[in-house]
Amino acid sequence: MNHTEPQRNFGDEEDIRTEVRSLISSLPSDTNIQGKKLCNYQGCWYYYKNLQAVLDYQKHFKPLDSDIIVTSYPKSGTTWLKALTVALLHRSEDGLQSHPLTSDSPHGLVPFLEMDLYHKSSTPDLTKLSSSPRLFSTHMPLHTLREPLKDSPCKIVYVCRNVKDVLVSLWHFRSKIGKKEAERSGLESIIESFCKGVDNYGPIWDHVLSYWKGSLEDPKHVLFMRYEDLKEEPYAQVMRLAEFLDCPFTEQEIRTGSVEKISDLCSLSSLSNLDINKTGISWNNVDHSIFFRKGEVDDWKNHLTTEMANKIDMIMDEKFQGSGLKM
Ligand code: A3P
Repeated sequence: MNHTEPQRNFGDEEDIRTEVRSLISSLPSDTNIQGKKLCNYQGCWYYYKNLQAVLDYQKHFKPLDSDIIVTSYPKSGTTWLKALTVALLHRSEDGLQSHPLTSDSPHGLVPFLEMDLYHKSSTPDLTKLSSSPRLFSTHMPLHTLREPLKDSPCKIVYVCRNVKDVLVSLWHFRSKIGKKEAERSGLESIIESFCKGVDNYGPIWDHVLSYWKGSLEDPKHVLFMRYEDLKEEPYAQVMRLAEFLDCPFTEQEIRTGSVEKISDLCSLSSLSNLDINKTGISWNNVDHSIFFRKGEVDDWKNHLTTEMANKIDMIMDEKFQGSGLKM
C-alpha cells in the first residue's frame, strides 16, 4: 500500500443495524484464520458488513432487463472479466484515448453490489451509474444473487479458476493488503480455512457448483467461464463472451482484428501498465495495482507442497463428484 489513509475493512462490525445483528445471532457463526467473524447465510460465509449489504441488495435491488452481472469467487479472474466486459461493450471507441478503461479501474467501472454499492448505502442511487447497460459484480453465490432477479432476463457471467491458484493468489493478496499482523495469513492457514470451508464467500465448492449448475439449467442467462480457457484460447473465449452478451463481432470487426485488440487491451501487462491501475486508489483505499500480480496458470506449483496439493484435489474431487465439473 502506498498511501496513508486508513483502509476500510470489509469485516468491520460497526454500522451493523439492529435487525441485522438480530438475524446474525440466529445464524451459524465462526471466525476465520485471521480471527475475523463470519456468519453463514444461505450456505455461504460472509463478514458481517458484507452480509448486511447482501440483505439490502436482496431487499431493494430492482433489475433492468439489460443488466449484466460479473461474478466470481475472489481471486478467480474478476478484474480480467470486468475489463473484458467493459472492452466488449465499448469497442466502437477507437484507440485508448477516451476508453473507459483508461479513466477508472475495472473495479470502479463494474462496482461490486455488496462490497461497494450496498456497502456504502442500504439504498444506493443506481440512476447515477454511468454505464449503459448497467454493469455490476458480486462474489455472492448464484441462489443468493438471483433472489431479487426473479424472472429477469439479465445476463450473469461467472469466472472460475483452479482452486490451488485461487488459494495462492489469495495468500499474496492478503499479505499485501494486510496491515495488521493477523491479516498476513500464512499459506497453511489459508489452506486450513479452505478445507474447513469457513472463509469469506466459502465454501468455494458450493460457490462454483451454484454457477456451474445454473449455467447448465439456464445457459441463456448464466455463462460459466474458466480462467485457464481465457489464457489458453483468448480469441475463442472473447468471441463466446460477446455472443453471450448479445454483442457478437461483425465480419468486418473480425477482419480488422477487433477480437485480438480487445484481448490485448485486457491482458495483464496492458491493464497493469495503464496509469489509472498503476497509481489509482479505490473508494475504500485499496491500490488498484494490487489486483494485478503474475496472472499465470499453475503458479501453485511454486508454492504448494505435493501433500497440500493432494489434499485440496481430494476435497474438490469429492465435492464435484457427479456434477460433471472437473477443475
Ligand atoms: P495471481 O495472483 O495468480 O497473479 P481477481 O481479479 O479475482 O481479484 O483475481 C486476481 C488474479 O487475477 C491475480 O492472479 C491477478 O494477477 C490476475 N489477473 C488480474 N488481471 C488479469 C488479466 N488481465 N489477465 C490475467 N490475469 C489477471
